Parts: sequence; C-alpha cells; structure tokens
Amino acid sequence: MAKIHVDMARSLGTVDRKIFGGFVEHLGRCIYGGIYEEGSPLSDEQGFRKDVMEAVRGLQTPILRWPGGNFVSGYHWADGIGPVEKRPRQLELAWHSVESNRFGTDEFMEYCRVLGVEPYLCVNMGSGTMDEARAWVEYCNGTGDTYWANLRRQNGHEEPYNVKYWGLGNEMYGAWQIGHLSPEDYVKKAIEFAKVMKWTDPSIQLVGCGEQGWNAWDRVVIEGLAPWIDYYSIHLYTGSANHYSNVFSPALAELAIKSSQALIEAARFTQKIEQPIYIAYDEWNIWYRQQTADSRLEEQYTLSDALAIGVYLNTFIRHSDVVKMANLAQLVNVIAPIFTSPEGLFLQTIYHPLRLYAEQTQEIALDVYVDSEQMTLTAEQQRSPWGQQFADLGPFKLLDVTATRDEAGKVLTLAVVNRDSERAHETTIKLAEETTITEFTAYEVNGPEVGSLNSFTEQTVVAAQERILEAPGSVRTLSYTFPAHSLTVLRLQLA
Ligand code: AHR
Repeated sequence: MAKIHVDMARSLGTVDRKIFGGFVEHLGRCIYGGIYEEGSPLSDEQGFRKDVMEAVRGLQTPILRWPGGNFVSGYHWADGIGPVEKRPRQLELAWHSVESNRFGTDEFMEYCRVLGVEPYLCVNMGSGTMDEARAWVEYCNGTGDTYWANLRRQNGHEEPYNVKYWGLGNEMYGAWQIGHLSPEDYVKKAIEFAKVMKWTDPSIQLVGCGEQGWNAWDRVVIEGLAPWIDYYSIHLYTGSANHYSNVFSPALAELAIKSSQALIEAARFTQKIEQPIYIAYDEWNIWYRQQTADSRLEEQYTLSDALAIGVYLNTFIRHSDVVKMANLAQLVNVIAPIFTSPEGLFLQTIYHPLRLYAEQTQEIALDVYVDSEQMTLTAEQQRSPWGQQFADLGPFKLLDVTATRDEAGKVLTLAVVNRDSERAHETTIKLAEETTITEFTAYEVNGPEVGSLNSFTEQTVVAAQERILEAPGSVRTLSYTFPAHSLTVLRLQLA
C-alpha cells in the first residue's frame, strides 16, 4: 500500500505559469507546414494553421521561444523582415536546409499576439554580431526616432513589441553549434552582448546559456555571468526505448536543477548579488529515436513517453522556487505534442499530460511525502541512447507525485504518475487535518499498454478521461488506486 501525505501549509513556492512554455524552431516542419502554411485551406489569411492554433490554445502556452535552437546560430534576423518577396533564401547550416525567411520577426510577433502568448527571442551568438543583437532589441522594443524602430514602423508595426525575454545564444558549448565557444570565451562575449542589449532597453530580462547544470561550463558561466542575467538555462533531453529507463530518466532533470541552483546561490552569495537568478529550462522533452530515412525529425510518442512528460512537469513543480520558465521542445511536428499533415493533425500522447497540467496545476506547490514501492534499474536499463547513466540517482519510486493548491486554499490537486507498467497501486492519501471535500474529480491519461501510440487513423488510443467521483465529505484520509501505466490528476474542491 503506497502512502501520500499532504499538508496545505507546507508550501514549496509559487508555480510560475511560464513552466508550461513552448518552443518553435526553424527545424523540419515545425514552422513551415506546422504553425505556418500559407495558402492552405486550413490556414487563416495570415498563413497560420487554424487547427494548430486551436490545439495550442488547449495547452494554454504562456510563452514561446523562437527562432532556435541550433538554427539561431546562423540566423540573421534582418533577412526575415520587410516585403516577403524581397527576403533572401539562405542556405541553413544547422539542419542542412534552405531558409526562405517567409516567417520572420513580424510574423512571429503576430502569431504570439493572436494566441496571447509572450514572445521569448534567442539571439545569434554564433555567426551573429552584438550589433545585430542590439539592433533586434531596438527593432522590437524601440520607441524613439531611430533607424531600427523606424524600420519596424515602416513595416507596419507602429507600436513596440516589448519583448521582455532574450536568450544570450543557444548551446554555445556544443561543437555542433556554429561558432561554439569555451565557457570563458562565452562569458566574455555574452557580457558584451548583454551590455549593448540592456543599454538599448534596460527593461529586458536576459537568459544565460547553460548546459546541463553540473558541467564545467555551468560553473564558469554562472560565476561569470551572474551579475548580468535574470535566468540561467538548462537543456536536457532524456529517454529510452526501455520503459523504465524512459520514465525514470527525468531524474537527470532533477539533478540538473539542483546543481544549477547550488551554483547560482554560491555565485549570488560570493558576489553579493541581490536580484534572484531563476532557471529557464528552455529545452526539454523525451527524445531518443533516430531521424527518419528522409532525415526529418518526426518523433512518434508512446504512452510511456507521456508518463515521462508527467514526471518532468512534476520535477518543475517540485522546484517551483527556482524553475520559473520551461519550454517544451518543440510545439509542432519534429519532437512535439502536435503532428500535422497538409490535411489535418493529430494529438500525440504527450499532448494529454501537457494539457492536463496546464489546466489543473494550482498556484502553490506543496511539499508532499510519498512512500511507494521502489525499483532499481538493471545495468542494461541504465543506458539511454544519449549515453547518460542515471542509475546512481535511484532507486526510483514507482509513484511520482506532486500537489498544488490555489491561493485561497479551496482547491487541492494531486498529480500522480504510476510508472509501474504492470500493476495498479492502491494508495492512502492522508491530509494534515480534517478537510471537507465537496467535489472530487479524477482525470486520467492512459492507454492499452506503455507502447501505445496515437496516429492519424487512431487518434485517441492514449487520451485523457474525466471521472466525477463521490465527494467524501469531511475526512482526513482518502483511498485511491492508481491504475498501471497511468497519469492521474485528482482535483479536490474544498469547503
Ligand atoms: O530542439 C532540437 C535541438 O536540440 C535544438 O535546436 C538544440 O538547441 C538542441 O540541441
């Protein structure tokens, strides 16, 4: 019998809605054929796919990162503004394609406006110059009578876009990146970019480029950039074809957060920095399969992956004191919850936990006590195709749990991922004090087996079900059985 203890007074921090953020990159069919398809009967007059927008609305995405990713390290944003027919077609080196520049800054800003989403831009610190980065801030946010602000007006956008969040390059540590740098060189260069960007608009917030939180890069960059940044990023993808390696792999995310947080706190303490530096986990997902034969990245997600996504979200909620932004990579096609064709779309398995958490997570994260059966991975299971070994982080509890409540203390939600592929887990849920529950609803993401997939022809093999249960009235203890391979959100309305 598993046990979960919840105390409404034991707050871990405020959950920032930006943890439900997304990311769209010029990669595969994410932009062209994904969010943007001019002339399609499924698109509006601006070329935005209406069916995709509806699915994105379901995710309540609060913030969208653009334009990359690896793509940004070769991207010159000024190629993507002005009359479309005059925009240059450029050879694109990150993903070996051709960038037509039909979708640029003004199209992205319009997409964000229509969806009510906050834009988050990442600047090119690979082949780009600091002058280009500074000019981009001016183009987006400038209010004076200056060249780039006037060019924005000339392009039909009188009002500034007021882009608040700016990333200082993407994965500049990686040899796969155009213009990759040593951590010391990155710090030097990023400070110069930061200076001119902030001088152009002092209200912007900067995101320093982090690796996985526990590397030499992270130590040097956090130490060197701490006075300049508001957020430090983490990029980490995990996953495995083996179910247990897959669903336990987000343990690495937990380690990445804890390591970064420790480095951040040490830098703030030794350098006497008053303002907080938060973590922007600005690329995350389950990603382990190979590219398809035509070299497109088109991930197909299973129920096991959906459960792992739930564990990632639980991880961000558990660390809501410091993780104030997270961006699922990516939003459409590629490695994403929405999969399109020219005729329509289907929702991948991972769409359902993302939607459920965005709908049901409350403002305050609570410190829960969980006692559940544990599992140790076999040597074979410890390995993921990313070469990351995380068995030392185990043994792993089969139930992964978070709890959140609203400010007023009237709604309590429990998010429980049962990673056991075979067995249901009967659980006692103990509340710190006698509580009157007036409504009790269970939302469950599940499917026939951990390998189940959705597709164009079978769209709801894995889906979310809602069940209204009998409200127990005044209680201190509840019982609930979490089915095998399920993700359940219990929503309790309190008197
Ligand atoms: O999201 C796909 C790629 O993964 C991004 O372009 C890059 O930043 C990361 O390595």
